[in-house]
Amino acid sequence: MDLFDKCRNFTEARTAVKEGWYPYFKAIQSGAETSVMIDGRKFVMIGSNNYLGLTQHPKVLEAVKKAVDQFGSGCTGSRFLNGTLDLHEELEARLVNFMKREAVLTFSTGFQTNLGVISSLVGKDDLLFADRDNHASLVDGSRLAFGKTIKYRHQDMEDLERVLKINQDVPGKLIAADGVFSMGGDILNLSEIVKLAKKYNAKTYVDDAHSIGVLGAHGRGTAEHFGVEDKVDLIMGTFSKSFASIGGFVAGDAVVIDYIKHRARSLIFSASMPPASVAATIAALDILENEPERRERLWVVTNRMKNAYREMGFNTGNSQTPVIPIIIGDNMKTFAFWQELWKNGIFANPVISPAVPPGMSLIRTSYMATHKDEEMDYVLDVFRKTGKELGIIG
Ligand SMILES: Cc1ncc(COP(=O)(O)O)c(C=O)c1O
Repeated sequence: MDLFDKCRNFTEARTAVKEGWYPYFKAIQSGAETSVMIDGRKFVMIGSNNYLGLTQHPKVLEAVKKAVDQFGSGCTGSRFLNGTLDLHEELEARLVNFMKREAVLTFSTGFQTNLGVISSLVGKDDLLFADRDNHASLVDGSRLAFGKTIKYRHQDMEDLERVLKINQDVPGKLIAADGVFSMGGDILNLSEIVKLAKKYNAKTYVDDAHSIGVLGAHGRGTAEHFGVEDKVDLIMGTFSKSFASIGGFVAGDAVVIDYIKHRARSLIFSASMPPASVAATIAALDILENEPERRERLWVVTNRMKNAYREMGFNTGNSQTPVIPIIIGDNMKTFAFWQELWKNGIFANPVISPAVPPGMSLIRTSYMATHKDEEMDYVLDVFRKTGKELGIIG
């Protein structure tokens, strides 16, 4: 017996590889577009978070090349010490303007943003109220925080009120949730959350990883979508989705951001965003602000796909966004469905527990503004045929 017994006993992934149905870590040989090359074959991509389709945009690529020429390949240090470029400050200033907040702080990933914000703000006497379906990075942030986390049932505002009421005498309270839930694609009931936050004197933190660039008249996310921007205390976003880059940010009042800046260990003890990623994000922000037609097209694609899946009889849960799950339930049936998609040249993501509750396995599909009509037609034909063959739809 030794420490590695658990590794030797973990055979599921190796078995799936041997049997030829392992669906993860597929190496893509081309750019993140609506179709990609894998093993020399072409696949229609419906498993990407490149919502606005900007990873190949000439202005983004030009900005990246310029930044590499000027600043080189990396910053070799944290924002706190030698890793702050004037380019990081330019991005933060642009985001202050875009998000209409006093201050913004950028991190190297969205995951690190959630780790740093939650763990620095929720101190030992404080409480975090978290939706049960929150993203793993919010969950891990709460594991690092000294304060206690109280989970409430997914999107259940009565349950949230119940736990807030029990703890109303605790002064330090933070409610944190995904603005768009990353697997279900449903939108946070933020109008109710801000009312409860006011009633029980709690602060609010919205993870808008899947909402910035997607929701709201200007793409400012869930709070803009509901018209409650002045009532939400902190909004985080990631650059790995609509912004076609990598990195993350938190926006809020200057004193709060200043505190996080001097307390968040995932910021202080990790190297900063590389120049190419910062430049790509600034260029993507320019496009996001100046080309609203991309967001409009994303919604045309989204509505077409969602309506078609529902008409065919697939269970898309409560999806209201470009994240459209096809809920199958059983793990093996989900993998069988995925295999058929794969054989037919469609890249989608099978998701099983613990990423979703047990018995809720699904194929996660997600869409881009750049998806072409013929790609959508093809995907829908394959889903119809496969759904019928596997007895998932009638
Ligand atoms: C809801 C949510 N929050 C945070 C993250 C982390 O973002 P990043 O990929 O930038 O680390 C993700 C990405 O998967 C996400 O879906």
